[in-house]
Amino acid sequence: MRVQVAIVGAGPAGLLLGQLLARAGIDTVILEQRSPEYVLSRIRAGLLEQGTVDTLEEAGVAQRLHREGLVHHGVEICFDGTRHRIDFQGLVGKTVTVYGQTEVTLDLMDARKALSAPSVYEAESVSVHDFDGKSPRVRYQKDGTTHEVACDFIAGCDGFHGVTRQSVPAATLNSYERVYPFGWLGVLSDTPPVSDELIYTNHERGFALCTMRSMTRSRYYVQCPLTEKVEDWPDERFWDELRSRLDAKANAELVTGPSIEKSIAPLRSFVAEPLRFGRLFLAGDAAHIVPPTGAKGLNLAVSDVRYLAHGLIAYYGNGDSTRLDRYSERCLRRIWLAERFSWWMTSLLHRFPDTDAFGRRMQGAELAYLFRSPTAQKSLAENYTGLPFDD
Ligand code: APR
Ligand code: PHB
Repeated sequence: MRVQVAIVGAGPAGLLLGQLLARAGIDTVILEQRSPEYVLSRIRAGLLEQGTVDTLEEAGVAQRLHREGLVHHGVEICFDGTRHRIDFQGLVGKTVTVYGQTEVTLDLMDARKALSAPSVYEAESVSVHDFDGKSPRVRYQKDGTTHEVACDFIAGCDGFHGVTRQSVPAATLNSYERVYPFGWLGVLSDTPPVSDELIYTNHERGFALCTMRSMTRSRYYVQCPLTEKVEDWPDERFWDELRSRLDAKANAELVTGPSIEKSIAPLRSFVAEPLRFGRLFLAGDAAHIVPPTGAKGLNLAVSDVRYLAHGLIAYYGNGDSTRLDRYSERCLRRIWLAERFSWWMTSLLHRFPDTDAFGRRMQGAELAYLFRSPTAQKSLAENYTGLPFDD
């Protein structure tokens, strides 16, 4: 088999890249180690910046998103039992859209099927070869047979634990990492959201977030120690803990119900540099991880893919490789800004086990400053709703 671009990973990054390239007449294959059902069963965040919505429109997959997505004009931050609203629309004239990553993935899978573009699910032992030379290839096993795909380029969209980043010679890759000393315990439930907008809470007992997927499906998170197991958290214990961290009004209005998903996610910041190694490009979680506090994970994956797709389209369109040459630098500029914002939001809102009384006061003072300063709120709004693209 020969294609122009071989894509490893069928998460949102790989699928979106495949879709943007297919629409430009560039042929791809997507190799994914899991089944489509497994990919769709992973519950991830669900908050889209306007730039992400624009890119999904460009990919022709935004119809259902426009029908079902919830447009949010601001968020609330709760400290000391009082909520403060950050008015995105008023501060920067922008909004965000609530639409689950699972739904984005499903729309992209359907679009790929409609174009009859090839995807190989349950591809085992995927490996990448000669991406620094003239004839890049990807090998995989399926049903006991080894297959090889020859290509011009390889896109590593295979997430944090994927094979592509690990195939790069260690000496050519720099990585930067921070692992936070806590996780998020998340619950999905078919109950109406406690509020029309998201509520981020900084509480003595730890961080909590009230978010949603629709007007009938809620997503809640509480910060928990990394030693906790999901089995330790029957629904009642989760709802009690969430209630203990919410303000009185939210507490009174919270509707609880059986969880339909419950999981614990660790919090990590990670960046790999550079993002290009000859004819191999890394994109999305393969290249970087942000803690979920800033809601940047999916948006950053989409912004990498947008730069990569435009670079490849220019290359195949008129032989112009300048965009591809600038891929790493352009992505990394946005990535580090998103890393900064996600780290700042995480530091501002969580209870850190090793923080002393002074540190706690400083967190309170930083929040007090945010609530009184339109400039600080504007900065939050600018970053949360997404920085502009430089293309
Ligand atoms: N071979 C083939 N596929 C692989 C391999 C491998 N060796 N390793 C991982 N994969 C697949 C995974 O099964 C997964 O489906 O690559 C895909 C990567 O998808 P994601 O982890 O969703 O990453 P990405 O597409 O970059 O999306 C980023 O997802 O993790 C969230 O917060 C993140 O919202 C962000 C978004
Ligand atoms: C979510 O809806 O799951 C979500 C929203 C905002 C975040 C993190 C997660 O910051």
